[in-house]
Formats: sequence, structure tokens, C-alpha cells
Amino acid sequence: MTVDIAIKEVEYNLKLVFLGPPGAGKGTQAAYIAEAGAIPTISTGAMLREAIANKTELGKLADSLISKGELVPDEVIIGVVKDRLKLDDCKNGYILDGFPRTVKQAEALDEMLPDAIDIALSLEVPDEDIIERLTGRRECEKCKATFHIKNNPSTKGDICDKCGGKLIQRADDSAETIKNRMSVYHAQTEPIKDYYKKLGKLVCVDGVGSVEQVRTALFKALGL
Ligand code: AP5
Repeated sequence: MTVDIAIKEVEYNLKLVFLGPPGAGKGTQAAYIAEAGAIPTISTGAMLREAIANKTELGKLADSLISKGELVPDEVIIGVVKDRLKLDDCKNGYILDGFPRTVKQAEALDEMLPDAIDIALSLEVPDEDIIERLTGRRECEKCKATFHIKNNPSTKGDICDKCGGKLIQRADDSAETIKNRMSVYHAQTEPIKDYYKKLGKLVCVDGVGSVEQVRTALFKALGL
């Protein structure tokens, strides 16, 4: 069952960072917020996977690191995001999904743009739920829509019901790699919450519950 919720389209100027462990539902929920506000989602993970598919220099570097659940170097990803934020579609706001991922990246973002971020939204999901979410995740090869074999399946089995593309499993969604992604998250990414807390920008939302329940809680937290 896909989620089909009528959201009143509103124009808003929102600069949002989505925080949370791998598989917390950042990409799933970012799609609703982006659609409602007509702002782009900038997913560094998706950009890196595209670079891997296109066999670019960045892709070659990212491939070996992502498959092990390691991060690409700060200076590389900071440059990628800096270029992306200069594009026209970012002028009315954006959602950053997967960036920043280290305190150094968060500091670089604030140096890049004076008011880079209005709110840092942390989706809280305990470790024990993450493996089930990630091993059951399927992604559309074509439009990159995200599904889950049990929690949020496509109505057409292994075919995307949004665009007809084939649903595949991400290479880094193996049990072994997920374990390392979780420890990298706790060691390197979780400290960012304190960084934004000190700036008075951190909002934590419970990410446990159905996709619809979490979406409702997020919209409420954002005042939408
Ligand atoms: P990235 O693509 O950013 O991966 P991630 O942070 O690990 O997050 P995911 O995309 O896995 O999860 P998500 O929170 O978006 O969850 P989703 O909505 O899909 O990064 C991949 C790699 O790229 C990194 O490991 C790193 O190597 C590299 N990288 C990226 N950015 C970098 C950076 N800035 N610096 C350095 N390296 C970087 O949901 C997961 C599943 O759960 C889905 O199947 C979904 O249907 C299901 N689901 C969603 N919500 C719910 C719910 N409420 N209940 C039940 N199931 C749900």
C-alpha cells in the first residue's frame, strides 16, 4: 500500500536539515515536505549513487566507501553540496537529507551561507527497528521512489507503482554494511544534534509509527 495523502500545496521558504540514523525514514518523509512546499530535496546519498552509476571520478571514490558503510571525505562532499546550493531551485528553500553528516560538515555549511539552516529535524528511531526497515527497503531503479516490502509496499509487487520502474535493493542494505553504517552514525553523525541544539535549531520527532503517523507528527512540528 502506498501512502496517498492529500496535502494542500503551500509555498514556504524553509531551509531544513533532516537528521536521523540510516533508515529512519528521512527520504520517505522528505518527499512529502518537499512536495507540499515545492522545494527540492538535496540527498547527498542519492547524488553519490548517481555518480557511481555514471562512473564519474566522484562515483569511483564513493563506490568503495559506501559499500563498506564508510563516509566519503568531508572536503569532497562539502564541495558537492556547495555547488548544488548555488542552483536556482534552492532560492525558496531546500531539504538537506544526508548532509551534514559530521560536525565539520555542519560548520562548513554555516560558513558557506549565513542563514543556511532554519531547523534541524531529527527523526528518532531506535537501532532495533533499523535493520528491519533497511533490509526490507526497495528503491525504484528509475524514479528512486522508496518502498518497503511489508510497511510500504508497491501495489505492483516489484514494479514501482509511481513510474513502472523495477524495484531493487540498495547495495549498502546488506546486514553487514548496515551494522557499520549504524556505528558510523553514532560515532560521527549523532554529535551534530548537539551542534544544532546549541544553536537552538534542533527539533526531535518520534520516527516510530506508521509512515502516515510520522508524517503527521513532522508536519505538526514544522507548523504546516
Ligand atoms: P544515504 O543515502 O544518505 O543513506 P542513510 O543516511 O543511511 O539513509 P537512508 O537513505 O538509508 O535512510 P532514510 O532515513 O532516508 O530512510 P528511508 O526513507 O529510505 O547515504 C548513503 C551513503 O552515502 C552513506 O553511508 C555514506 O557512505 C555516503 N554519504 C551520503 N552523504 C554523505 C555525507 N554527507 N558525507 C559523507 N558520506 C556521505 O526509509 C528506510 C525504509 O524504511 C524504507 O523501506 C521505507 O519504506 C521504510 N520506512 C520509512 N518510514 C517508515 C515507518 N514510519 N515505519 C516503517 N517503515 C518505514
